[in-house]
Amino acid sequence: MAKTVETKELTEVSEAQIAVHWKEEEYYQPSEKFKAQANLRDPHVFAKFGLDKFPDCFKTYADMLTWFQPYHTVLDTSDAPFWKWFVGGKINAAYNCVDRHLAKYGSKAAFIFVPEPESEPDVVITYQELYSRVNEVAALLRGMGLKAGDRVTFHMPMVPELPITMLACARLGIIHSQVFGGFSGQACGSRMQDSGSRVLITMDSYWRNGTLVDHKANADIAVRAAKDLGQDVDKVLVWQRYAGRYSAKTPMLAGRDFFVNDLLKDYKGKNVEPVALPSEGPLFLMYSSGTTGKPKGAQHGIAGYLAYVTGTSKWILDIHPEDIYWCMADIGWITGHSYIVYGPLAIAATSVLYEGVPTFPDAGRPWRIAERLGVNIFHTAPTAIRMLRKLGPQEPRKYKYHFKSMTTVGEPIEPEAWRWYYDEVGKREAVITDTWWMTETGGFLGTTVPAIHAMKPGSCGPGAPGIHPVIYDETGAEVPKGSGKAGNICIRNPWPGIMQTIWGDRDRYVKTYFAKYNRNPKSKDWRDWPFLCGDGAVQAADGYYRILGRIDDVINVAGHRLGTKEIESACLTVPEVAEAAVVPVQDEVKGRVPEVYIAVKPGVPHSQDIIDRVVKANEEVIGKIARPKHVYIVPDMPKTRSGKIMRRVLAAISNRRDVGDVTTLANPDVVEQIRSMVQGQETMTTQEALPEDIAKFGENE
Ligand code: WTA
Repeated sequence: MAKTVETKELTEVSEAQIAVHWKEEEYYQPSEKFKAQANLRDPHVFAKFGLDKFPDCFKTYADMLTWFQPYHTVLDTSDAPFWKWFVGGKINAAYNCVDRHLAKYGSKAAFIFVPEPESEPDVVITYQELYSRVNEVAALLRGMGLKAGDRVTFHMPMVPELPITMLACARLGIIHSQVFGGFSGQACGSRMQDSGSRVLITMDSYWRNGTLVDHKANADIAVRAAKDLGQDVDKVLVWQRYAGRYSAKTPMLAGRDFFVNDLLKDYKGKNVEPVALPSEGPLFLMYSSGTTGKPKGAQHGIAGYLAYVTGTSKWILDIHPEDIYWCMADIGWITGHSYIVYGPLAIAATSVLYEGVPTFPDAGRPWRIAERLGVNIFHTAPTAIRMLRKLGPQEPRKYKYHFKSMTTVGEPIEPEAWRWYYDEVGKREAVITDTWWMTETGGFLGTTVPAIHAMKPGSCGPGAPGIHPVIYDETGAEVPKGSGKAGNICIRNPWPGIMQTIWGDRDRYVKTYFAKYNRNPKSKDWRDWPFLCGDGAVQAADGYYRILGRIDDVINVAGHRLGTKEIESACLTVPEVAEAAVVPVQDEVKGRVPEVYIAVKPGVPHSQDIIDRVVKANEEVIGKIARPKHVYIVPDMPKTRSGKIMRRVLAAISNRRDVGDVTTLANPDVVEQIRSMVQGQETMTTQEALPEDIAKFGENE
């Protein structure tokens, strides 16, 4: 048994209580068995990746790749803070993820695709097959005239055709931009416009919660939305969920829409040489929410990104070629890009790719898959852990799988949920890495190295090798560890996985991530450019970080980053709505969910119809994940004398907290009206302090 300390079984502790009365959690140790087999066991690794060894320490990651031409400069800071990694090198990501494995691992599975319907058989794709399929799609894309530097948008579900198409782009240097399949057609269209994509690649349908969804319908909406914004889309390539059969009701548009399977007939058996691309060439864009209403396209480069996700897949996820690895994230998010596609493939992993919902048809599904396929590394998010625990706390016991390692990512995990993950899912055998990072950072920032560090529930751990975090207060002073004080967590140094820029918006990149703590805007010295991660954090005396959540009015719904401003703009598309304010509410399963307050225009009667249309607007503009928990029509928004909406007051009401002193507001009376509308006549507040991200919500205004 790996656990060396007995833990008291705590009664349910809400996240709020933990945030305030954060007690020191006990450590859990990795087992000797795990340590003996781990890829990274050398405790000197941290000295080797010390700041005094920066940036050359990262050559170790670059050495894990195969280069067409070696690089001459590890880090070029001449255009700070637009970092260039491994300059002078020529490389290809698809070659590194596929071709170079053929000799040794050609007949080994790269992916085992598990369809959502349990009656459908798995589809095994070996590295050799992956090679053929990537080449054929690359030949098709090249045949369409696409070339390095062009952007192509995908709106695809979790099917093997998604990584295949990504790698086909990477083979040619085409920049892919995958929009999460659960986002609406409109959301896809606006991202197409921002990236200037003329081609959309999608799939006719996919299974979700027992339904075969007509996904082609979204493509039509996306093309229209892009056109409305001024971007013409010439071609829509439609993969078929069942090859050779169209399983959507939405008609194909002649001349614009093409079935990929039809087009591929002309490219059967075709090979395309992987293009030797410059290290700093862009690999992909990944749109993500921030403070403004417009999502930003994080641009990741080829060599730095690939080196970083390769190194961390090997050292932190501890993937060996003989393991069966399953990351349940969606490839439409950064976790899937980095830790389903590029990182694991670069080290010849065998990965499970699951199409559907983890709890379909019941909460035993993931454990059945794990048992049947012999999964031994499991990677998921706290939301899935909470959901699986809620619906089937004892389910894992029924299945004979054994995990050696498990990951959690995307949201803070409460110690309570962590312990269930450890005890029940991991059967007290598996190590847990709580990996903290974000879209912009390409790969892990804060995590334990599983064979070296003890685990501590609720804390991600120290910085990953070569990542040197620091917490600054508002004045730029360092918040010392063990002080119990929260601040803004930053990274002192660049690292190869960091984004290159925001697509088409250099200023926003500098302003968002560096301006706050930059020491000299003209400096070419990386030491002057700490990277602002966008999270609040506390560092314990042992050096472990506890992440408190976003500081930029992003609401993390079930691990999905949604911008408040995006949700508010969606509400304002309903003509009767005059003002909208969105706040996060704590949720037992999803972590946070948005709640919406609207004020209607003068003379408009309040009605359920308006509420329904506000909900629908969110689903249409963003996607079902943005569905508000409640929509309240209020007589007026609580405002300061200067007219600013006090979202913090609304957040307190929604989270059943005391609103505090509101006498200085322009309209204090409205607060009580809203409170009784939301909480009922009796006062239902609790005295627990709010979690940091909610307590500070709206401060960026
Ligand atoms: C949050 C997902 C606590 C954090 C990889 C971050 C986490 C945002 C963790 C990025 C973690 C991610 N513990 N919080 N282990 N991992 N977060 O861009 O607030 O979708 O800023 O990237 O998720 O979300 P994103």
